[in-house]
Amino acid sequence: MLRLMAVIICFCLLYKPGICQDINQPNILGEPWNDVDGNFINAHGAGILHFGDVYYMFGEIKKGITRLVPGQNWEDYRVPAGGISCYSSRDLIKWKFEGVALAPKAGDTLSDLDTSRIIERPKVIYNEHTKKFIMWMHIDKEDYNYARTGVAVSDKPEGPYKYLGSFQPNGQQSRDMTIFKDEDGKAYLIYASENNNTMHVCQLSEDYLSPSNSFTRILINQRREAPAIFKHGGKYYLITSLCSGWSPNAALYSVADSLTGKWENRGNPCVGAGADTTFESQSSFVLPVNGDADSYIFLADRWNKTDLPDSRYLWLPLRISEGNVVIKNDLHFGNGYYHWKTNSDLVIDSLEVLPFSILQYSVNIKNSDTRIKGYSYIKFYDISDRELMSYRTDPITSPTFVQSGIYTEAPPFTKYAKIGIVTDSLNAGSLYADSLKVQLNIDRPTITQVPHCNLDEYMRPFWNSDTIYNETVLIYSESGKTAMGKLLFKPDHIISVKSYDLSREYKKGIDYTIQTNTIIKSTNSVVPYRTDASFDHGDLAWYNLQSQWIVVTYTHHDKWTGPLPVFKGDKLPLLMAKLKSKLPVRIIGYGMSITRGQDVSSYVNRSPFMPTYLDLFVRQLGKNYHHDKIELVNAGLPGALVSWGASNAEKYINPVHPDLVIIDFGMNDFWRYTPDEFKGYIQTIIKKVKKENPKTEFLLISNMDFDPSYILDTDKYKSFYTSNMKGYNKVLQQMETTGVINLDMTTLSDSIYSRKKAKDCISNPLHPNDYLARWYAQSLTAMLSR
Ligand code: GAL
Repeated sequence: MLRLMAVIICFCLLYKPGICQDINQPNILGEPWNDVDGNFINAHGAGILHFGDVYYMFGEIKKGITRLVPGQNWEDYRVPAGGISCYSSRDLIKWKFEGVALAPKAGDTLSDLDTSRIIERPKVIYNEHTKKFIMWMHIDKEDYNYARTGVAVSDKPEGPYKYLGSFQPNGQQSRDMTIFKDEDGKAYLIYASENNNTMHVCQLSEDYLSPSNSFTRILINQRREAPAIFKHGGKYYLITSLCSGWSPNAALYSVADSLTGKWENRGNPCVGAGADTTFESQSSFVLPVNGDADSYIFLADRWNKTDLPDSRYLWLPLRISEGNVVIKNDLHFGNGYYHWKTNSDLVIDSLEVLPFSILQYSVNIKNSDTRIKGYSYIKFYDISDRELMSYRTDPITSPTFVQSGIYTEAPPFTKYAKIGIVTDSLNAGSLYADSLKVQLNIDRPTITQVPHCNLDEYMRPFWNSDTIYNETVLIYSESGKTAMGKLLFKPDHIISVKSYDLSREYKKGIDYTIQTNTIIKSTNSVVPYRTDASFDHGDLAWYNLQSQWIVVTYTHHDKWTGPLPVFKGDKLPLLMAKLKSKLPVRIIGYGMSITRGQDVSSYVNRSPFMPTYLDLFVRQLGKNYHHDKIELVNAGLPGALVSWGASNAEKYINPVHPDLVIIDFGMNDFWRYTPDEFKGYIQTIIKKVKKENPKTEFLLISNMDFDPSYILDTDKYKSFYTSNMKGYNKVLQQMETTGVINLDMTTLSDSIYSRKKAKDCISNPLHPNDYLARWYAQSLTAMLSR
C-alpha cells in the first residue's frame, strides 16, 4: 500500500498545471465578488427571492463618489442613489446581472427615486393571488429625516418595477427594514422606527402593497436596525445590528413564537474571533437554502464608509443548534461555501469537459455532525444531459474541513461534468463544501508543436536498419571516472551527436571520442552528463532525466541479437481485413501513463516534440497500408490500475466501438496484484468489451521494465515486484489466441537495458523516453504490417 502511495505521489508530481477554477463566492475575506460577466456584483443591503428554481437577488446599486453630508452629527457618508439591481442564479454561485430592477431618476429632486435620495435595503416577495412581485425598500433623504418606506410592483421577478410611492406606515418613521412572508401567505413589514430606538412589526394588506392599520412595537428602546428574519421550527428568529451608522457592531438575535408576540433576546449569534463586530459586517438577509430546515445563509454587508461602492459582502453559514442560532467565521481559508441538504445532493460547479481528458478537482468538506457521511463527486454528462459516469470519494465524517477530491478521465462523449457534494445519511445535519479547485485537461500541453525530428526516419525499425537516428545516451560518470555511455550497436560512422532538443551539435574529438560502441565525454567538453552521485540512491528514489541525454545518429552493420517483434497480423483477421480493404479502423489505447505518452517530448512540450508511441504507431500503420481512415483514441489515465481498467472498460471502451483495443497496464499494478489477479482483470476487460463489440480484437502489451535500480536489493518486496512484472508478461503471452495478441516489451526493454543502461532509455524510473517509446511504436507496427 505504501508502495502504491509512492507511485501515486510520483504521478501527482508530474501533472502539469491546468486551468484552475475557483468558485467566486462572497466570503469572509470580503474579496471582490463578480457576476458571470466578470463585473463586480453591485447589490448592497441585499435580499433574495427564491422563485421557481431561480434565486433573484436585489440590492442597492452604489456607484459614484462617496461624500460626507455636511452639518450632521454622525458619519453621514453617502453616494448618489443608483437604484436597485437584480441578479439571478440557480446555484447561488454563478450570478447573472438581470438589469436595473428599479431605476433612479436624475434631476427630479421631488421624486423619491431621485439620485439625491436614499434607496436602501430592497426586499421582494411574491403574491400568489395577484401574481405580482412586490418590492419594499427604505426611502430617505440625505439627512435620513424623511424616514419612509417605499413600494414597487412588477409582473416579472427581475422587473422593471413600477414605483408606487412611499409613506410612513401609520405615521411611524421607517428606516432600516425587511419583509417577511409567512407560511400562511401573510406578509409583514419589520422596520426601525421611533428614531431608530424601537422596531415595529406591521402586517401588510392581502395584496402586499400597503400596511395594515396596526403595528406591534418590539425590541423597545434597544436601538436595533438592519433586520434579517427567518422562521425555523415554528419560531421566528430576528437578527439585527446596533445603530452605529456604517460602522460594524455586535449582532443580536431575538426569538418569538409569533411575529407580533413577545420577542426574547438571545444575544450575539456570532461566535469566535470577530464576533463583536459581526465579523466586520452588518446583517442584510437570511436565506433558507434548498428548503432544508437546517441550512441557512447569513448575508451581510461589509461597508466601506469612505468609498461606499467598494463595500464588500459576507456570506456565512447559519446553523440552529437546539434552538440557538450560531454564525461562525470558520471559512477563513475559504473561497466559497455551500450548505447542503440531507439525503440529497448539491452541485457546486458544472463545467465543459472534453472526452478522454484528464481532470482533477479538490474540495474541502466537513459535516455539521459526525453521524453524517459526506462525499464529494464528479458526474459526466453527454450533450443530451445523459449521465455517462460518476465517481464519488470515500466518506468523510469530519467536523472540521478535510480535503476530498477525484482525479480521473472523462468518458467518451462527455460534454460537461458536475462536481458536487452528497450524503447518504438519514441523520439531519449539513455538509459544507469550500475551496473548490478544478484542473481541466491536465494531460494536454498548452502548445502543440510540429515535431523537430523526421518521423519516417524515427520509425525505421532499430533491429533491421543500418542507420540509427537519434539514439539517446545518458553520459554517465561512475565513482568519479570519465563520463561515458553506450550505443546499442557498434557504429561504422557517426553522423551526428546532438543535444536532446537537437539544437546543438557536439564535435568529435573535441566534445567526445568513440571506442567500439562507447561514447566518451572529453575533458572540458560541453556534453551534458550525470554522475552516479547526482542520483538519490534511496529505495524508490525518483528522478527526471528529461533533456539530459545526448542523441546519436550513426550507421552500423552488426546485427540485433535481442528479441524480435514478429508479425502477428494473422491472429487479428478482422482488423487485417479492414486494413487491407481500407475500411475505417478505430483503435483505442486503454491503459496508464505510458499509454498516454508520459514522458515523451511532445507530452512534456519540449523539443523535439516527438509524438506518443500510439500516435507514431497509428501514423506508420496508415502509411504501410496506404490507409487514411485509422482513428486513434487515447484513453490512458496516468496512475491507473488494471482494476480501474476492469471496472470501467464498458464505459471507456464500448461506446467507441473499436476494431482494436491496445491494453497497456502494469506499471501501477506490480506493487499489489499477482499475475493471476492481473490476468483476471485483463480477462474482465476483454469480456466486457466483447459482450457489446464481439468483433473487437485485442493487443496486450507486456509492460516495459522499470529502472532496475529503482527498487533497492534491500527492499523486502523486491522479488514480489519483479516476479509480478515478469509474471504479467507470462500470463499475457498465454492469453494469445485468435483475436488477442501480445507485445512483450518486458523482455525487449530488459534486453536493451542490458546492452546500454536503463537510464539511456527512460525519462524517469517508470516511463520510456523518446527512444524506448520508439521501440514500442516500431514493434507494434511490425506486429501488424510486414
Ligand atoms: C446603517 C444602515 C444602512 C445605512 C447606514 C447609513 O446603519 O443599516 O442601511 O442606512 O446606516 O449610515
